[in-house]
Amino acid sequence: MPAIAVLGAQWGDESKGKVSHLLAAEADWCVRFNGGTNAGHTVVLGGRVFKFHLLPAGSLREGCKAVLGNGMVVDPLALVKELEELKNAGCNPEVYISAAAHLVLPHHRLVERLSGAEAGIGTTGRGIGPAYRDKADRTGLRAGDLREPVLFRERLERNLRREQELWRSEELKSLDPRRLADEVLEAMEPWADRITNTAALLNRALDRGERVIFEGAQGTLLDVDFGTYPYVTSSSTTIGGVGTGAGVSPRRVERVIGVVKAYTTRVGEGPFPTEERSALGDRLRERGREWGVTTGRPRRCGWLDLVALKYAQMLNGFTELSLMKLDVLSGLPELRVATSYRCRGELVSDFPAQAELLRDCEPVYQTLPGWREEIGGCRQLGELPARAQAYISFVEEHLGVPVSIVSLGPGVETSILRASAFSRSR
Ligand code: IMP
Repeated sequence: MPAIAVLGAQWGDESKGKVSHLLAAEADWCVRFNGGTNAGHTVVLGGRVFKFHLLPAGSLREGCKAVLGNGMVVDPLALVKELEELKNAGCNPEVYISAAAHLVLPHHRLVERLSGAEAGIGTTGRGIGPAYRDKADRTGLRAGDLREPVLFRERLERNLRREQELWRSEELKSLDPRRLADEVLEAMEPWADRITNTAALLNRALDRGERVIFEGAQGTLLDVDFGTYPYVTSSSTTIGGVGTGAGVSPRRVERVIGVVKAYTTRVGEGPFPTEERSALGDRLRERGREWGVTTGRPRRCGWLDLVALKYAQMLNGFTELSLMKLDVLSGLPELRVATSYRCRGELVSDFPAQAELLRDCEPVYQTLPGWREEIGGCRQLGELPARAQAYISFVEEHLGVPVSIVSLGPGVETSILRASAFSRSR
């Protein structure tokens, strides 16, 4: 069962793109199963920076086919642009789009702004919530509709007119359904034959023994069911999302890699117990270059939270962890790690995902000694300072999961791969 899931264990931005890209060296397929252009995956390759919003980061590997699964919400105009940019950079991935993936159209982005979600939840403004709302409401447009232009035009007109009646907005009213349908149909015309039943494609590939990477977007704590609702995204970011968002049984996933930043960040609103609104937070932001790939917003920064990570481990059943950006912690005299919370007078070790409760939680920290050395050049675990090794062991022991990849910088080469990181995927 050579399938691997790469999932964010925190509030997103854990550098999943780098891990997927690393593993895609040996993969035949890489698959996105949730979210849309709210995601921003960066891969630094040979000094060049590639930013993905819709395509899986593994698409950069020659021979690795890309799938946009049914659980995604796809902005067709953004997709065409991203494919064009990749082509100009010399990459021409073989891409398949699920016919059941929902479409994000310009009016979804407008509706998101009008609804106040951008201001209230701190959403990315990419139309994600309204597109998933239409999906649940059974009024959405799907990629497969693009193959039936008459039907597509009818559905788009109905969908847009409804919003135009609901909202008092001149900008929304100025959108012409016919012109919009022309634009989308024309842009997607070269890709129409790539819109297909991707669940069947992937299951057949797995039957043949091909290797598949499922690349999660956002993180466990932003999951619509298990995250810090309502400060979440609108999709399933956890292992269950592979089943519902790609049509592949989670039983077929052999390795579940939890991607963990060595500290914690969050973009947008919502509770964040270990947040440091201090010089330390600023230092992590500066050293870790913690600004959003999609929106450019500064990320909120704080200490590693093992209470939240235990919760992520429970939900996803990680078989291993990728510990990212460990180099950012160099030079701090001591490192704090939350191992429990004090919440409304009680000591708790189970993560209370309910936002109102989490807001009242104070982290209880364990302090570990920091290291002074810069570690970006280390290529073996044994080359790391003993205190950095102890930090890794502390995380492993607390969560009961081995760390198979340690990342020490943005470039793909700045990674320590324990023997298991690749060999188990062969
Ligand atoms: P939405 O997904 O645009 O609806 O935003 C909902 C919440 O998820 C906001 O707090 C966003 O900042 C956050 N979010 C969405 N996508 C990402 C991501 O890729 N990384 C980190 N946070 C994200």
